[in-house]
Amino acid sequence: MKTLVEFISEKQADFPYASGELTRLLNDIGIAAKIVNREIKIAGLVDITGYFGQQNIQGEEQKKLDVFANKAFLSAMRHGGMVCAVASEENDEMYSYENAFSQKGKYVVAMDPLDGSSNIEVNVPIGTIFSIYRRISPSGGPGTMEDLLQPGVNQVAAGYVIYGSSTMLVYSTGNGVNGFTLDPSVGIFILSHPDMTFPEEGSIYSINEANYIYFQEGVKKYIKYCQMDDPGTNRPYTTRYIGSLVSDFHRNLIRGGIYIYPGTSKNPNGKLRLLYECNPIGFLAEQAGGKASTGFRRILEITPESLHQRVPFFVGSAEMVEKAEEFMKQYSPED
Ligand code: AHG
Ligand code: MN
Ligand code: MN
Repeated sequence: MKTLVEFISEKQADFPYASGELTRLLNDIGIAAKIVNREIKIAGLVDITGYFGQQNIQGEEQKKLDVFANKAFLSAMRHGGMVCAVASEENDEMYSYENAFSQKGKYVVAMDPLDGSSNIEVNVPIGTIFSIYRRISPSGGPGTMEDLLQPGVNQVAAGYVIYGSSTMLVYSTGNGVNGFTLDPSVGIFILSHPDMTFPEEGSIYSINEANYIYFQEGVKKYIKYCQMDDPGTNRPYTTRYIGSLVSDFHRNLIRGGIYIYPGTSKNPNGKLRLLYECNPIGFLAEQAGGKASTGFRRILEITPESLHQRVPFFVGSAEMVEKAEEFMKQYSPED
Protein backbone atom coordinates (compact mmCIF):
# COMPACT_ATOMS: atom_id res chain seq x y z
CA MET A 1 0.00 0.00 0.00
CA LYS A 2 1.42 3.35 -1.04
CA THR A 3 0.04 6.69 0.10
CA LEU A 4 -0.07 9.90 -1.94
CA VAL A 5 2.48 11.53 0.38
CA GLU A 6 4.90 8.60 0.03
CA PHE A 7 4.43 8.47 -3.74
CA ILE A 8 4.99 12.22 -4.22
CA SER A 9 8.11 12.14 -2.06
CA GLU A 10 9.53 9.19 -4.01
CA LYS A 11 8.84 10.97 -7.30
CA GLN A 12 10.77 14.02 -6.15
CA ALA A 13 13.89 12.08 -7.05
CA ASP A 14 12.78 12.28 -10.74
CA PHE A 15 13.53 16.01 -10.71
CA PRO A 16 17.23 16.69 -10.57
CA TYR A 17 16.64 20.34 -9.65
CA ALA A 18 13.87 19.63 -7.15
CA SER A 19 14.12 21.27 -3.79
CA GLY A 20 10.96 19.64 -2.51
CA GLU A 21 8.75 22.65 -3.17
CA LEU A 22 6.61 20.96 -5.81
CA THR A 23 6.30 18.00 -3.48
CA ARG A 24 5.03 20.25 -0.70
CA LEU A 25 2.68 22.06 -3.06
CA LEU A 26 1.12 18.79 -4.24
CA ASN A 27 0.73 17.74 -0.62
CA ASP A 28 -1.03 21.02 0.18
CA ILE A 29 -3.39 20.47 -2.74
CA GLY A 30 -4.12 17.00 -1.34
CA ILE A 31 -4.97 18.53 2.04
CA ALA A 32 -7.29 21.17 0.53
CA ALA A 33 -8.95 18.39 -1.50
CA LYS A 34 -9.73 16.52 1.72
CA ILE A 35 -11.24 19.64 3.31
CA VAL A 36 -13.39 20.32 0.23
CA ASN A 37 -14.35 16.65 0.12
CA ARG A 38 -15.56 16.82 3.72
CA GLU A 39 -17.76 19.82 2.91
CA ILE A 40 -19.15 18.24 -0.26
CA LYS A 41 -20.03 14.98 1.47
CA ILE A 42 -22.19 16.80 3.99
CA ALA A 43 -23.60 19.27 1.47
CA GLY A 44 -27.09 17.80 1.57
CA LEU A 45 -27.10 17.91 5.34
CA VAL A 46 -26.05 21.44 6.07
CA ASP A 47 -27.91 23.25 3.33
CA ILE A 48 -24.70 24.61 1.92
CA THR A 49 -25.56 24.04 -1.72
CA GLY A 50 -27.70 27.13 -2.25
CA TYR A 51 -26.62 30.07 -4.33
CA PHE A 52 -24.11 32.44 -2.77
CA GLY A 53 -25.94 35.41 -4.24
CA GLN A 54 -23.14 36.73 -6.41
CA GLN A 55 -22.02 36.24 -9.96
CA ASN A 56 -18.47 35.58 -11.14
CA ILE A 57 -16.93 37.46 -14.09
CA GLN A 58 -18.55 35.12 -16.59
CA GLY A 59 -22.02 35.92 -15.29
CA GLU A 60 -22.51 32.48 -13.74
CA GLU A 61 -24.09 32.22 -10.32
CA GLN A 62 -21.48 31.17 -7.83
CA LYS A 63 -22.55 28.40 -5.47
CA LYS A 64 -21.59 28.41 -1.82
CA LEU A 65 -19.42 25.40 -2.41
CA ASP A 66 -17.64 27.10 -5.34
CA VAL A 67 -16.71 29.88 -2.95
CA PHE A 68 -15.76 27.48 -0.17
CA ALA A 69 -13.56 25.39 -2.48
CA ASN A 70 -11.88 28.50 -3.88
CA LYS A 71 -11.02 29.71 -0.37
CA ALA A 72 -9.85 26.28 0.76
CA PHE A 73 -7.36 25.91 -2.10
CA LEU A 74 -6.22 29.55 -1.94
CA SER A 75 -5.51 29.30 1.76
CA ALA A 76 -3.83 25.88 1.56
CA MET A 77 -1.45 27.33 -1.01
CA ARG A 78 -0.88 30.56 0.92
CA HIS A 79 0.53 28.91 3.99
CA GLY A 80 2.86 26.62 2.05
CA GLY A 81 4.82 29.53 0.57
CA MET A 82 5.42 27.76 -2.75
CA VAL A 83 2.89 29.69 -4.84
CA CYS A 84 3.08 33.42 -5.60
CA ALA A 85 -0.11 33.81 -7.68
CA VAL A 86 -3.24 31.94 -8.70
CA ALA A 87 -5.71 32.20 -11.60
CA SER A 88 -9.07 30.84 -10.49
CA GLU A 89 -12.40 30.52 -12.22
CA GLU A 90 -13.90 32.21 -9.19
CA ASN A 91 -11.61 35.27 -9.19
CA ASP A 92 -12.04 37.84 -11.92
CA GLU A 93 -8.44 38.97 -11.63
CA MET A 94 -5.21 37.15 -10.89
CA TYR A 95 -4.98 36.42 -7.17
CA SER A 96 -1.57 37.49 -5.97
CA TYR A 97 -0.37 36.60 -2.47
CA GLU A 98 0.84 39.65 -0.61
CA ASN A 99 2.98 38.04 2.05
CA ALA A 100 6.74 37.92 1.53
CA PHE A 101 6.85 34.18 2.22
CA SER A 102 4.50 33.39 -0.70
CA GLN A 103 6.23 35.88 -2.99
CA LYS A 104 9.37 33.80 -2.70
CA GLY A 105 7.37 30.86 -4.13
CA LYS A 106 8.57 29.43 -7.45
CA TYR A 107 5.17 28.45 -8.78
CA VAL A 108 1.87 29.81 -10.08
CA VAL A 109 -1.35 27.80 -10.18
CA ALA A 110 -4.45 27.95 -12.40
CA MET A 111 -7.50 26.21 -10.98
CA ASP A 112 -11.17 25.44 -11.32
CA PRO A 113 -11.98 24.97 -7.62
CA LEU A 114 -15.26 23.22 -8.32
CA ASP A 115 -16.01 21.86 -11.75
CA GLY A 116 -19.51 20.76 -12.70
CA SER A 117 -20.91 22.66 -9.75
CA SER A 118 -24.37 22.88 -11.32
CA ASN A 119 -24.56 19.15 -10.52
CA ILE A 120 -24.19 19.52 -6.75
CA GLU A 121 -27.90 19.45 -5.96
CA VAL A 122 -28.40 16.25 -7.91
CA ASN A 123 -25.59 14.31 -6.27
CA VAL A 124 -23.54 13.81 -9.41
CA PRO A 125 -19.74 13.69 -9.26
CA ILE A 126 -17.99 17.05 -9.33
CA GLY A 127 -14.31 17.93 -9.32
CA THR A 128 -11.41 20.30 -8.83
CA ILE A 129 -8.87 20.93 -11.61
CA PHE A 130 -5.37 22.37 -11.13
CA SER A 131 -2.44 23.34 -13.31
CA ILE A 132 1.03 24.29 -12.04
CA TYR A 133 3.70 26.39 -13.78
CA ARG A 134 7.11 27.59 -12.77
CA ARG A 135 6.98 31.38 -12.57
CA ILE A 136 8.87 33.49 -15.10
CA SER A 137 9.16 36.65 -12.99
CA PRO A 138 11.95 36.78 -10.42
CA SER A 139 11.22 35.28 -7.05
CA GLY A 140 10.71 37.75 -4.20
CA GLY A 141 8.05 39.94 -5.83
CA PRO A 142 4.40 39.45 -6.71
CA GLY A 143 3.46 36.97 -9.44
CA THR A 144 2.65 38.49 -12.84
CA MET A 145 0.20 37.88 -15.67
CA GLU A 146 3.15 36.68 -17.73
CA ASP A 147 3.66 33.89 -15.19
CA LEU A 148 0.09 32.70 -15.69
CA LEU A 149 -0.27 33.20 -19.43
CA GLN A 150 2.14 30.44 -20.40
CA PRO A 151 1.28 27.78 -22.97
CA GLY A 152 0.16 24.43 -21.54
CA VAL A 153 3.37 22.71 -22.66
CA ASN A 154 5.11 24.58 -19.86
CA GLN A 155 3.02 22.92 -17.12
CA VAL A 156 5.19 21.19 -14.54
CA ALA A 157 2.23 19.35 -13.06
CA ALA A 158 -1.53 19.13 -13.44
CA GLY A 159 -4.31 17.09 -11.97
CA TYR A 160 -7.87 16.83 -10.77
CA VAL A 161 -9.82 15.66 -7.79
CA ILE A 162 -13.08 13.83 -8.43
CA TYR A 163 -15.62 13.83 -5.62
CA GLY A 164 -17.64 10.81 -6.69
CA SER A 165 -18.82 7.55 -5.22
CA SER A 166 -15.26 7.56 -3.96
CA THR A 167 -12.96 10.58 -3.95
CA MET A 168 -9.86 10.39 -6.09
CA LEU A 169 -6.88 12.59 -6.82
CA VAL A 170 -5.33 12.04 -10.24
CA TYR A 171 -2.18 13.92 -11.22
CA SER A 172 0.88 13.99 -13.42
CA THR A 173 4.24 15.70 -13.17
CA GLY A 174 5.04 14.79 -16.77
CA ASN A 175 5.97 11.18 -16.10
CA GLY A 176 2.66 9.43 -16.65
CA VAL A 177 -0.60 9.70 -14.73
CA ASN A 178 -1.37 8.17 -11.35
CA GLY A 179 -4.63 8.00 -9.42
CA PHE A 180 -5.16 7.86 -5.66
CA THR A 181 -8.37 6.96 -3.86
CA LEU A 182 -9.25 8.55 -0.54
CA ASP A 183 -9.78 6.09 2.28
CA PRO A 184 -12.36 8.13 4.22
CA SER A 185 -11.91 6.16 7.41
CA VAL A 186 -8.33 7.36 7.85
CA GLY A 187 -8.33 10.40 5.53
CA ILE A 188 -5.43 9.17 3.39
CA PHE A 189 -5.13 9.03 -0.41
CA ILE A 190 -3.88 5.59 -1.45
CA LEU A 191 -2.37 4.70 -4.84
CA SER A 192 -5.19 2.78 -6.56
CA HIS A 193 -4.68 3.52 -10.26
CA PRO A 194 -0.95 3.42 -11.10
CA ASP A 195 0.14 4.50 -14.57
CA MET A 196 -3.26 5.35 -16.04
CA THR A 197 -3.47 5.14 -19.83
CA PHE A 198 -6.32 5.33 -22.32
CA PRO A 199 -7.37 1.90 -23.63
CA GLU A 200 -6.32 1.41 -27.29
CA GLU A 201 -9.90 1.35 -28.52
CA GLY A 202 -12.56 3.60 -27.09
CA SER A 203 -16.30 3.35 -27.51
CA ILE A 204 -17.71 6.37 -25.67
CA TYR A 205 -18.41 9.82 -27.07
CA SER A 206 -19.40 12.64 -24.74
CA ILE A 207 -20.92 15.84 -26.09
CA ASN A 208 -23.91 18.00 -25.23
CA GLU A 209 -25.91 17.04 -28.28
CA ALA A 210 -28.71 19.47 -27.44
CA ASN A 211 -26.49 22.09 -29.08
CA TYR A 212 -26.49 20.10 -32.35
CA ILE A 213 -28.07 22.79 -34.49
CA TYR A 214 -25.34 25.22 -33.47
CA PHE A 215 -22.45 22.84 -34.24
CA GLN A 216 -20.15 23.15 -37.24
CA GLU A 217 -20.59 20.66 -40.06
CA GLY A 218 -17.42 18.78 -39.03
CA VAL A 219 -18.81 18.11 -35.54
CA LYS A 220 -22.22 17.07 -36.91
CA LYS A 221 -20.62 14.67 -39.36
CA TYR A 222 -18.35 13.23 -36.64
CA ILE A 223 -21.37 12.59 -34.39
CA LYS A 224 -23.05 10.71 -37.24
CA TYR A 225 -19.82 8.73 -37.72
CA CYS A 226 -19.90 7.78 -34.00
CA GLN A 227 -23.47 6.55 -34.41
CA MET A 228 -22.83 4.49 -37.55
CA ASP A 229 -23.11 0.71 -37.42
CA ASP A 230 -19.74 -0.60 -38.60
CA PRO A 231 -19.25 -4.34 -38.02
CA GLY A 232 -15.82 -5.26 -36.74
CA THR A 233 -15.41 -1.90 -34.99
CA ASN A 234 -16.77 -0.44 -31.74
CA ARG A 235 -19.28 1.62 -33.68
CA PRO A 236 -21.92 2.58 -32.99
CA TYR A 237 -20.29 4.04 -29.90
CA THR A 238 -22.23 4.78 -26.77
CA THR A 239 -23.07 8.26 -25.47
CA ARG A 240 -22.22 9.27 -21.92
CA TYR A 241 -22.48 12.88 -20.81
CA ILE A 242 -22.55 13.96 -17.18
CA GLY A 243 -22.00 17.68 -17.71
CA SER A 244 -19.01 17.76 -15.40
CA LEU A 245 -15.75 17.77 -17.35
CA VAL A 246 -13.75 16.04 -14.62
CA SER A 247 -16.22 13.17 -14.36
CA ASP A 248 -16.68 12.81 -18.11
CA PHE A 249 -12.92 12.84 -18.67
CA HIS A 250 -12.22 10.44 -15.79
CA ARG A 251 -14.69 7.87 -17.14
CA ASN A 252 -13.37 8.20 -20.69
CA LEU A 253 -9.78 7.84 -19.48
CA ILE A 254 -10.62 4.54 -17.79
CA ARG A 255 -13.05 3.19 -20.39
CA GLY A 256 -11.70 4.80 -23.58
CA GLY A 257 -13.58 7.64 -25.20
CA ILE A 258 -13.69 11.19 -26.50
CA TYR A 259 -15.10 14.32 -24.85
CA ILE A 260 -16.00 17.26 -27.05
CA TYR A 261 -17.07 20.79 -26.17
CA PRO A 262 -16.86 22.39 -29.59
CA GLY A 263 -17.29 25.94 -30.74
CA THR A 264 -20.87 26.74 -31.77
CA SER A 265 -22.45 29.40 -33.94
CA LYS A 266 -23.48 31.12 -30.69
CA ASN A 267 -20.14 30.64 -28.90
CA PRO A 268 -17.38 30.13 -31.46
CA ASN A 269 -14.83 29.38 -28.73
CA GLY A 270 -17.05 26.89 -26.93
CA LYS A 271 -17.45 27.03 -23.17
CA LEU A 272 -14.42 25.56 -21.48
CA ARG A 273 -11.58 27.69 -20.19
CA LEU A 274 -8.07 27.20 -21.51
CA LEU A 275 -6.07 27.92 -18.36
CA TYR A 276 -7.84 25.87 -15.73
CA GLU A 277 -9.90 23.33 -17.68
CA CYS A 278 -8.43 22.51 -21.10
CA ASN A 279 -4.70 22.83 -20.36
CA PRO A 280 -4.58 20.65 -17.22
CA ILE A 281 -6.99 18.06 -18.64
CA GLY A 282 -5.07 18.18 -21.93
CA PHE A 283 -1.75 17.65 -20.11
CA LEU A 284 -3.18 14.59 -18.33
CA ALA A 285 -4.65 13.28 -21.59
CA GLU A 286 -1.28 13.45 -23.33
CA GLN A 287 0.47 11.90 -20.36
CA ALA A 288 -2.03 9.03 -20.56
CA GLY A 289 -1.33 8.47 -24.26
CA GLY A 290 -4.32 10.47 -25.48
CA LYS A 291 -4.73 13.80 -27.27
CA ALA A 292 -6.19 17.24 -26.63
CA SER A 293 -7.06 19.50 -29.53
CA THR A 294 -9.13 22.49 -30.59
CA GLY A 295 -10.26 20.32 -33.48
CA PHE A 296 -7.38 21.77 -35.50
CA ARG A 297 -4.38 22.19 -33.24
CA ARG A 298 -2.81 20.98 -30.04
CA ILE A 299 -4.32 22.66 -26.99
CA LEU A 300 -1.02 22.76 -25.08
CA GLU A 301 0.66 24.89 -27.75
CA ILE A 302 -1.78 27.80 -27.51
CA THR A 303 -0.31 30.94 -25.96
CA PRO A 304 -3.08 32.28 -23.70
CA GLU A 305 -4.11 35.90 -24.00
CA SER A 306 -6.34 36.20 -20.96
CA LEU A 307 -7.12 34.35 -17.74
CA HIS A 308 -10.63 33.24 -18.60
CA GLN A 309 -10.11 32.60 -22.31
CA ARG A 310 -12.28 29.84 -23.81
CA VAL A 311 -11.34 27.31 -26.48
CA PRO A 312 -13.10 24.51 -28.38
CA PHE A 313 -12.03 21.25 -26.74
CA PHE A 314 -11.63 17.73 -28.14
CA VAL A 315 -9.96 15.37 -25.67
CA GLY A 316 -9.56 11.64 -25.17
CA SER A 317 -8.27 8.50 -26.83
CA ALA A 318 -5.70 9.46 -29.48
CA GLU A 319 -7.36 7.69 -32.41
CA MET A 320 -10.75 9.15 -31.65
CA VAL A 321 -9.44 12.72 -31.38
CA GLU A 322 -7.50 12.26 -34.63
CA LYS A 323 -10.64 11.03 -36.39
CA ALA A 324 -12.64 14.00 -35.12
CA GLU A 325 -9.86 16.32 -36.37
CA GLU A 326 -10.12 14.71 -39.82
CA PHE A 327 -13.82 15.53 -39.93
CA MET A 328 -13.15 19.11 -38.83
CA LYS A 329 -10.51 19.60 -41.51
CA GLN A 330 -12.69 18.08 -44.21
CA TYR A 331 -16.06 19.68 -43.41
CA SER A 332 -15.28 22.79 -41.37
CA PRO A 333 -11.84 23.99 -42.46
CA GLU A 334 -10.58 27.08 -40.68
CA ASP A 335 -10.47 30.31 -42.71
P1 AHG B 1 -18.01 24.80 -14.04
O1 AHG B 1 -18.99 24.09 -13.14
O2 AHG B 1 -16.62 24.83 -13.46
O3 AHG B 1 -18.49 26.14 -14.51
O4 AHG B 1 -17.80 23.90 -15.35
C1 AHG B 1 -18.89 23.35 -16.02
C2 AHG B 1 -18.43 22.91 -17.37
C3 AHG B 1 -17.85 21.52 -17.45
O5 AHG B 1 -17.56 20.89 -16.29
C4 AHG B 1 -18.88 20.74 -18.20
O6 AHG B 1 -18.30 19.76 -18.97
C5 AHG B 1 -19.58 21.77 -18.99
O7 AHG B 1 -19.54 22.93 -18.24
C6 AHG B 1 -21.02 21.40 -19.27
O8 AHG B 1 -21.59 22.37 -20.04
P2 AHG B 1 -23.05 22.17 -20.71
O9 AHG B 1 -24.02 22.17 -19.57
O10 AHG B 1 -23.18 23.35 -21.61
O11 AHG B 1 -23.03 20.87 -21.46
MN1 MN C 1 -15.38 23.83 -14.82
MN1 MN D 1 -16.00 25.69 -11.59
